[in-house]
Amino acid sequence: MSRVITLTTDFGSNSGYVAEMKGRLLHARTPFTIVDIAHDLPAHDIRAAAWLVGQACPAFPAGTLHLVVVDPGVGTPRRLVWAEIGGQQFLCPDNGLLSWLLRRQPLTAAGEITVTADAAATFHGRDVLAPAAVRLLDGTPPEALGTTITDLARLPWPEPQKTAAGHAGEVIHVDAFGNLVTNLPAELWPLVAAAGGLRVGGHDLTTLVRTYGDAPSGTPVVLVGSQGFIEAAVVEGRAAARLGAGLGTRVAIAGRYTLRMNPPAPGSRVPPVAPAASTGAASSCADLLADWDRRHVWHAFTQMQEYDPLLIESGQGAWLVDTAGNRYLDGSASMWCNVHGHRHPKLDAALAAQAAKVAHTTNLGLSNPTTVEFARRLVEVAPPGLEKVFFSGDGSSAIEAALKMAFQYWRQAVPPEPDRTRFVAIGEAYHGDTLGAIGVGGVDRFTALFAPLTFAAIRLPSPGGPCPATGRPAPALDEALATLDQTLAAHRGTIAALVMEPLVQMAAGIYVHPSGYLRGVREITARHNVLLILDEVATGFGRTGTLFACEQEDVVPDFLCLAKGLTAGYLPMAATLTTERVWDAFLGPHGDRRTFFHGHTYGGNPLAAAVGLASLDVFREEQVLASLPPKIARLQEHAARLGRLDHVGAVRQCGLVAGLELVADKATGHPYAWQEKRGTRACLAARHHGALLRQLGDVVVLMPPLCVTRDEIDHLAAAAEAGIRAATEA
Ligand SMILES: Cc1ncc(COP(=O)(O)O)c(C=O)c1O
Repeated sequence: MSRVITLTTDFGSNSGYVAEMKGRLLHARTPFTIVDIAHDLPAHDIRAAAWLVGQACPAFPAGTLHLVVVDPGVGTPRRLVWAEIGGQQFLCPDNGLLSWLLRRQPLTAAGEITVTADAAATFHGRDVLAPAAVRLLDGTPPEALGTTITDLARLPWPEPQKTAAGHAGEVIHVDAFGNLVTNLPAELWPLVAAAGGLRVGGHDLTTLVRTYGDAPSGTPVVLVGSQGFIEAAVVEGRAAARLGAGLGTRVAIAGRYTLRMNPPAPGSRVPPVAPAASTGAASSCADLLADWDRRHVWHAFTQMQEYDPLLIESGQGAWLVDTAGNRYLDGSASMWCNVHGHRHPKLDAALAAQAAKVAHTTNLGLSNPTTVEFARRLVEVAPPGLEKVFFSGDGSSAIEAALKMAFQYWRQAVPPEPDRTRFVAIGEAYHGDTLGAIGVGGVDRFTALFAPLTFAAIRLPSPGGPCPATGRPAPALDEALATLDQTLAAHRGTIAALVMEPLVQMAAGIYVHPSGYLRGVREITARHNVLLILDEVATGFGRTGTLFACEQEDVVPDFLCLAKGLTAGYLPMAATLTTERVWDAFLGPHGDRRTFFHGHTYGGNPLAAAVGLASLDVFREEQVLASLPPKIARLQEHAARLGRLDHVGAVRQCGLVAGLELVADKATGHPYAWQEKRGTRACLAARHHGALLRQLGDVVVLMPPLCVTRDEIDHLAAAAEAGIRAATEA
């Protein structure tokens, strides 16, 4: 079989130069077939040559010799080279055009071609390359053409930029019709289609076609070209001239103009788009994602009509980074759950190691070693006597499980007390958003609407702060405990359990209980034989300074509900821990129906358990709890300072969480009208100062991950101050 030679040049196919190249090749004694890849490439369009040859060569057999004579640099010292890549040979100037190929296949060998002296005065690439090709064809080993080299020139090839899922690139070739080939590969077409177009330079091209045959005359269109790249073209050609674009022109898959392309038909059910989305030009994929976010993602506790997307793409330690590269201190510990920081190497490794075994198996009648080990470790670190672990998915489900267990317990206790069906809860309590959890929840703005769907708990005034509904101040410790005692006495024999957050009620607005309240509650509930459910979903795992808040008053509950920090903020997992006393009441033969008929698909998920186990190791190895007092003290200093601002009425802190309550009148404590959203405004303004904060009404909350440093607390406080000033002094 004859050898194949391909020819690519930057001079015209009907020029004497191409004919001359071919004529010189005929000096070879070996038979060959010559195939033209491309000619007439624009001067200096090295990328086009590289790209065209790169696209073409996989179709050629091993041993093919590619002659690429583009921009060889007449009379300059630019090197001419031979190279062996993927079993094929290349003869070309060393101007970087091999870069494209080298991205895909390793270089086997390369050498410099020796230029003979007599041609040196006027030599052109073709003068050397054609004779070199002849020698190769006739059996001269490539290394005999010149010196072996390893440092081939590399063309800075414009890879499309990728952010989370979006892409921008540039025009890498203007084809023979004057149309534009981009470096966006065909795989990105679905994104272009979803966006509804491509931005080329300053133009939004919103007509997408499958082939040139579908393109309307005269309109710039976007399509996947035959080379497998996205192209911008006019069917008659000359898109480059029409769009004022050329090599290197920026292209982007943009989002916002899609709205112009696919306007909702009158009366259609396409969701309205916030005004910001339909104005201005979007030119990055971050904008596209923001559009999708607005259109498709229903965010928790968020008025979607007012929602302004901020997409967090990565994190490290106590910091988060958005799609535009802005860094923010994670001032809410990613909704109160991050403990050791983002991307902690030990936690990442534990997750990967478990994923290499199995990601999920059910714990309905089945088990997994990692989950078992985690349960055992939880029992070891929990207050004594809590030896049974029921896994579920999130904080609310840990509470639901505890409520149902307590309810069922009394029906199966010895002797049974089936009249114990009611629950006692604390004012302004928050235990989650599922129906049972809102039954015992007391933040009216979240729960009042759903009251008809759930049960009514018996509610005690919170000793942590004033009642927002009545304005009545928090009862003192003695009064609060006396009220509890009277309440339990008044409802003797009908109360299944009391549920509360120990030490601090977070969602209430960081309501800190007086010291001794928790201890008192435990003593009184024990005296009345009422079960105690402690909700440590938010307080657990170091937030209050000890691993569990209840340790601080030496209290052991009947149920301990854990979530959030259970997996250090990595994965959804919750646990309801309880005692042998409760467990025993559920034992019996199948026919007795004492089983706890309750469960969640992902309860005990091994990935989450692996991270939870690693997190407990990190607590120990990094002495996390011992590191907290100086951080808590630093937060206290800042909270006290911020408390002196004109519109900060109250400051409440427990461990590494502080709440700053914004008020209209500091002297009287008169609140702002809730419609003014001062808390929200303060937190949004703090973003401009490098911190992500989350408000509770008009309470600005500072709750960083436990790994935060004192310097980072300084930063957080400065951002909070700037945010509060912006929201209250403007
Ligand atoms: C004290 C408390 N309990 C329960 C929950 C509910 O947890 P989840 O959101 O994981 O359902 C929360 C959530 O913030 C909480 O703070």
